[in-house]
Amino acid sequence: MNEWMEGYISDVEYTANYYKELDPNLLNLTAVLNDIEPIPVDEPFNYCELGCGKGITILALAANYPSGKFYAIDFNPSYIASARRIAEKANLTNIYFFEESFQELIDKPDLLPQMNFIIFHGIYAWISDENRLNLIKLCYRHLLSGGFVYNSYNAKPGWNDVEPLQKLIIGLSTEYPGTSLNKMDTIIHKIEKLQEIKSGYFEHKKDSIKNKINKMKAADNNYLVHEYLNKDWRAFYFPEVSKEMENAKLNYLCQASPSEIYTATLLPQEVTKQLSDIYEQNNRELLIDLFVNRVFRRDMYTRGISKNLNSVERHERLLEKEWILINHDKIEAFNFSLSVGNIQGDKKIYDKIILALKNDILSTKELQRLSSLDDNRIIQALMFLYDANYIAMYQKHDKEKVTNLNRVFASSVFEKNRFKYVIAAHIKQAVPMNDINMAWLDGLYKGFTSRKELVEYVYQSFTKLNMSISHENKVLKNSEMKKHLYNLEIKLRKKLLPFWQKLGIL
Ligand SMILES: C[S@@+](CC[C@H](N)C(=O)[O-])C[C@H]1O[C@@H](n2cnc3c(N)ncnc32)[C@H](O)[C@@H]1O
Repeated sequence: MNEWMEGYISDVEYTANYYKELDPNLLNLTAVLNDIEPIPVDEPFNYCELGCGKGITILALAANYPSGKFYAIDFNPSYIASARRIAEKANLTNIYFFEESFQELIDKPDLLPQMNFIIFHGIYAWISDENRLNLIKLCYRHLLSGGFVYNSYNAKPGWNDVEPLQKLIIGLSTEYPGTSLNKMDTIIHKIEKLQEIKSGYFEHKKDSIKNKINKMKAADNNYLVHEYLNKDWRAFYFPEVSKEMENAKLNYLCQASPSEIYTATLLPQEVTKQLSDIYEQNNRELLIDLFVNRVFRRDMYTRGISKNLNSVERHERLLEKEWILINHDKIEAFNFSLSVGNIQGDKKIYDKIILALKNDILSTKELQRLSSLDDNRIIQALMFLYDANYIAMYQKHDKEKVTNLNRVFASSVFEKNRFKYVIAAHIKQAVPMNDINMAWLDGLYKGFTSRKELVEYVYQSFTKLNMSISHENKVLKNSEMKKHLYNLEIKLRKKLLPFWQKLGIL
């Protein structure tokens, strides 16, 4: 391991994912739900991600928020080089990359300006005590008063049962040869064998261990290596983190997930009763985490609240928001997976909202009128739908920067490292896209507009690269593949293109 890695994994690349919770619009929405004045994002603002990885989220944000300046930091040169190259290709000029460690940033006080947003996602629980302290120092030095800090981390008590497994995994990693990636499969296999002996910890916590192993087997190995094989790994109780954050004068605001605001009220009545005389924030949060057996937290902090909204201002802001339906496929059950467990939404209410949104983009106020719900209930219903990615906040925006980035993402479909997302300007989000749809987009960007040209382009490209297309469990080849593409192209023109245009993808 190289010294610059400070115990952090670098022989295996981290997954290139987009995280909606890092979006300033989501952070602002969550702030408003908690009666806090949001940070204006249609005027200049600064946003910094410490430990940006491959930078997919911050690249998407830079394209979506032309008035913001985005500072992407990571000590891994490969990540910075590849993210910078994407920004250059897409002509994104409001994103700045720094290949620096947190310690190096501390030593260079003039490198970064003051920030409105400082984000560390998937960092805090995987670095050394000194580096956690560095993050706090960087917040102290670079956060503007009234700014927001986002910090996500593995939480306790949810990790208590499986914490010994992580210790075992990191220990066993020195026993086996090969890259971190190769080691992971061997280690999982070994743990399964150990569990069969039914002794001690393996017997005592067998259900938690089994559950974890099943999750690990289903997960991407690149993710597993970064989750489990870093030298430093810790899960935290909320008060431990909030005390560390206090050193940068940071006060806890809420969790960066709009539906979390309802957690305390959704717990069983006896629990809510027990919480009613607990006022100190650390105690309340800890108790809630114990009641929901929390495994992961996404916390928002602020330094100096600029303004507390009164209930009229809060409702005004929430009622004027506009919503668009983004998922037409899986709308049936309205079973929301929340930290309190699965909550079954009232089908009559949600059907009405979804039906209305199938026809139009509507504001909270308009949806309230149609559903006859009071302010609080319509807002709650929309927050559940938004967190579950059924709907998104809508506002028409200029698409130029987004289109440039989408061209780069779409053209990657025929390269070794493919992107799995495109950016939708009017909802300011990245949306997942499969290879075939990426290929259509790529063809359209390249000017193949007629039906024949477009199908030929996709067909030839797939065939040349030996990429397969499956339909009804059958791998299609030659004329069958072409026929299928002609069918798909009809669907593209009829359904997908109008939808992509509505979202501001194209
Ligand atoms: C788990 S990844 C998360 C990446 C990104 N935030 C995301 O969620 O996709 C952690 C990142 O932090 C970076 N990192 C870890 N320790 C660091 C340090 N001391 N200085 C700078 N970057 C660091 C790693 O290189 C890695 O890209």
